[in-house]
Amino acid sequence: MRQHGPVARVVVVTGGNRGLGREVARQCALRGDTVLLGSRDPAAGERAARTVQPHVPGRIRPVRLDVTDTTGLAALAADVTATEGRVDVLVNNAAIHYDTWQDAAHADLAVVREALETNVLGAWQTTLAFLPLLRRSPHPRVVMVSSEGGSLASMGGGAPAYHVSKAALNALTRTLAGDLRRDGILVNAVCPGWVATDMGGPGGRPLEDGAASIMYAVDLPDGGPTSTFTRDGRPVPW
Ligand SMILES: NC(=O)c1ccc[n+]([C@@H]2O[C@H](COP(=O)([O-])OP(=O)(O)OC[C@H]3O[C@@H](n4cnc5c(N)ncnc54)[C@H](OP(=O)(O)O)[C@@H]3O)[C@@H](O)[C@H]2O)c1
Repeated sequence: MRQHGPVARVVVVTGGNRGLGREVARQCALRGDTVLLGSRDPAAGERAARTVQPHVPGRIRPVRLDVTDTTGLAALAADVTATEGRVDVLVNNAAIHYDTWQDAAHADLAVVREALETNVLGAWQTTLAFLPLLRRSPHPRVVMVSSEGGSLASMGGGAPAYHVSKAALNALTRTLAGDLRRDGILVNAVCPGWVATDMGGPGGRPLEDGAASIMYAVDLPDGGPTSTFTRDGRPVPW
């Protein structure tokens, strides 16, 4: 089902080559969207696109996208300006270092720095790179794939790089949402729940369900909420 009439949306998904990113790309393309499936390894992106494309009506276009590569992001934005002309939805999904093996009192700060670089600054600079293209969209949305692990309300010990980086991503969500509200750009954070991916490990819920939790914020109607944090469309305490 398309949400905004007959024109297919242009959706950018970071970390689209596996896990939740690939499933979000699939669910968007099922709705008829043009999906720029971002992958830092182009071969992995092409493999993912080949797997998904035959089963969806939308177009999957694999693109090289490393959220830590400022120059590469600028080049991709220039390419997308020339080819697609706009971006309707940016899904900042890529993340690293669910560091359950350490605690804050014994943290390897090199791991923490890497997590902040990818999970926070990566999402931030990817958003900045695509902002001019989002401004060309009649229905712009930015979706931050966060985690309840970043909720200050429930935060205790453990996984310090991951938890601190997701708390910062939540702060970025609210700050950007405030700054972009008057431009009609909806910026929301979502938790997919515990999902059986490489990061989540076995035992989590199916990919389809985790991605559906993300699609809630992808599919928000015009005039929909901004600056929210939800799982399955229901509020998660910040
Ligand atoms: N799984 C869960 O239970 C769970 C729970 C809560 C939140 N989340 C969140 O959901 C999102 C997706 O998680 P997942 O479980 O699908 O993780 P995953 O299976 O580990 O996949 C992570 C994806 O991010 C990509 N990535 C990492 N660094 C990147 C970079 N610098 N530039 C571009 N892409 C990069 C990876 O690419 P490579 O293949 O090149 O490494 C991969 O495609 C993350 O934000 C995660 O924090 C997951």
